[in-house]
Amino acid sequence: MKKKMLEMLFCPSCSGTLNLEHATYEDGEIKEGLLLCTMCNVPYKVTDFIPRFVDTDTYVDSFSFEWNKFYDVQMDILNNNDESERTFLWKTGWKPEDIKGKLVLDVGVGAGRFADVVSRWGGEVVGIDLSYAVHAAYKNIGKRDNVHIIQGDIFNLPLKPETFDHMYSIGVLHHTPDTRNAFHSVVPLLKKGGEFAVFLYAHGHYHAFSDRWRKITTKLPIKLLYYLSSIAVPLYYIHKIPFFGRAAQFFLPTANWPDRRWRWLDTFDWYAPKYQWKHTWPEVFQWYKEEGFTDIELFELEKESSLALVCMRGRKI
Ligand SMILES: C[S@@+](CC[C@H](N)C(=O)[O-])C[C@H]1O[C@@H](n2cnc3c(N)ncnc32)[C@H](O)[C@@H]1O
Repeated sequence: MKKKMLEMLFCPSCSGTLNLEHATYEDGEIKEGLLLCTMCNVPYKVTDFIPRFVDTDTYVDSFSFEWNKFYDVQMDILNNNDESERTFLWKTGWKPEDIKGKLVLDVGVGAGRFADVVSRWGGEVVGIDLSYAVHAAYKNIGKRDNVHIIQGDIFNLPLKPETFDHMYSIGVLHHTPDTRNAFHSVVPLLKKGGEFAVFLYAHGHYHAFSDRWRKITTKLPIKLLYYLSSIAVPLYYIHKIPFFGRAAQFFLPTANWPDRRWRWLDTFDWYAPKYQWKHTWPEVFQWYKEEGFTDIELFELEKESSLALVCMRGRKI
């Protein structure tokens, strides 16, 4: 944790100021310590360079597993490609010049694939996540001067209101118990005039049959589901067979990325999460309006993708 982070944090219980105590430092960063609320005296730990505002990963244990197991798969810097950068471009509509010099919040940072892009584009990024994915994110990008990683809950945020120039949440809010409330919880953190980009799953996608499988898969032990998800590796070749391939994909949808670990990861990511709500763009448009946004834009869906997606951005008034 960088000392600078203290300016952005407050007590999620009572909004009091946090005092850093018993700090140990390594490489100029706070490695361990205690953040003590000056108002309600609640202590929050800093461990392994990460401030912790939750004690467990509750309903996101599959993400803790997923992002630590596959920490490197979607990271451009580790794979020498620009897949995540291109995805960030079309999911948010932002270009490097929109991000440079800005303070940006990544809501649900995962292993940090998009926070990496923001940081390389010259933005300062705070990534928050409820799961132990924060360990993967810290390992991938946490040492950079312009990156801050926090373990915390969207529904009990430890960040001061009107702190961020821009915010984005990619594939996250629909994995909470209540997408609409999650949207509502993060809006106060954005400065007036700042932009918020979200990416959510939509109804009516090609993977519809998977909802039936999810009734079983979300109850399986995580490790078992991890091994079962590897079926996506050989199924990729079956999917290329005319007619039979399409039928196989319909009844047992799995990810179809050319990279074998990516399709394993994405298949696990589809079948494991406890919550996976779907929405429509008029519904999300309405949320933006209700929360006081203007200039609301709907981005084109990924044409080559079989998934229906909602990609929107708005400016806070
Ligand atoms: C599908 S992953 C997406 C991660 C990243 N945005 C990406 O696209 O690679 C969803 C993430 O949302 C996080 N998440 C779910 N509920 C959350 C909550 N209440 N507060 C913070 N993070 C949450 C999960 O832990 C998980 O890492």
